[in-house]
Amino acid sequence: MLLVTGASGALGSLVAERLAGRADVALGTRAGLPGTRRLDFDAPGTLPEAFAGVDTLLLISAGYGEDDTVVARHGAAISAAERAGVRHVVYTSLSGDGDHLTYALAHRWTERRLRRSPTLDWTFLRNGLYAEFLSWIAAPDADDRITGPLGEGRLAAVAREDLADIAVSVATDPAAHRSRVYELVGERALGGGDLARALGSTYAPGTLADARAAIAASGAEPFQVPMLASTYSAIAHGFLDGSGIESDLRALLGGREPRDALDVFVKAVREG
Ligand SMILES: NC(=O)c1ccc[n+]([C@@H]2O[C@H](COP(=O)([O-])OP(=O)(O)OC[C@H]3O[C@@H](n4cnc5c(N)ncnc54)[C@H](OP(=O)(O)O)[C@@H]3O)[C@@H](O)[C@H]2O)c1
Repeated sequence: MLLVTGASGALGSLVAERLAGRADVALGTRAGLPGTRRLDFDAPGTLPEAFAGVDTLLLISAGYGEDDTVVARHGAAISAAERAGVRHVVYTSLSGDGDHLTYALAHRWTERRLRRSPTLDWTFLRNGLYAEFLSWIAAPDADDRITGPLGEGRLAAVAREDLADIAVSVATDPAAHRSRVYELVGERALGGGDLARALGSTYAPGTLADARAAIAASGAEPFQVPMLASTYSAIAHGFLDGSGIESDLRALLGGREPRDALDVFVKAVREG
């Protein structure tokens, strides 16, 4: 039995769609939606029942929080998996070029926790930043200008659907991927100018200081301010353009062309 956590999130629901109808797959959601097992890493008491009979766990990272919150969630999930006799955890992590992002720590902690597990086999899907996420941090403003402080930097963004395809193929054949760390960053690095041209907008990058102040003033949670500022900075200063990493994306897609990140970005902006 394969259990997918976070099955109502954006990535998890794409995974769930691809696995629909399979008798050997269970879905887990915090809300305990119909047809799913209720599981909430913040309520570890939900986990023994949710993990019963599970051989493989696709652990979709439960980001969004301070490090101690996210580490506690992932730690609870892994400990419960060990106790329930799960054999293999496939974890959706963060690409290796993302270590300057404030949220990298919780991913690396989780990887280390899994590597040190006395009982679990593991596979890490080190996902790059989504093209859909780029549409969030580099959307045009009311004057049709992209002002996100990306400088001259570029992002090797990846379509969430490609990551869902890969998560499904790995999690349904985990033994073939035991102890593997896959770097899943896009093949085409996009800069602010590319994004603006594709939308017919203007690129007028602001400063990190202005962006940080605007994020703080927007009602964002305190942890989100450094999270987003570090994302802009890592892109602007060339750490996430794909040049420092060998991507396994195409190989894990069975050799096919990855979805076009610029098309995904444009669609995501237009759909709001
Ligand atoms: N690579 C990127 O660009 C990028 C961007 C944003 C986030 N991420 C990371 O990748 C993950 C998946 O991305 P996404 O786009 O699907 O994000 P999303 O739509 O915001 O979904 C959040 C996910 O976190 C799960 N979650 C949160 N708290 C949880 C808890 N206490 N117990 C169990 N599950 C919990 C949710 O589970 P339910 O479905 O059960 O609610 C859901 O699957 C995120 O959680 C985050 O860690 C990556």
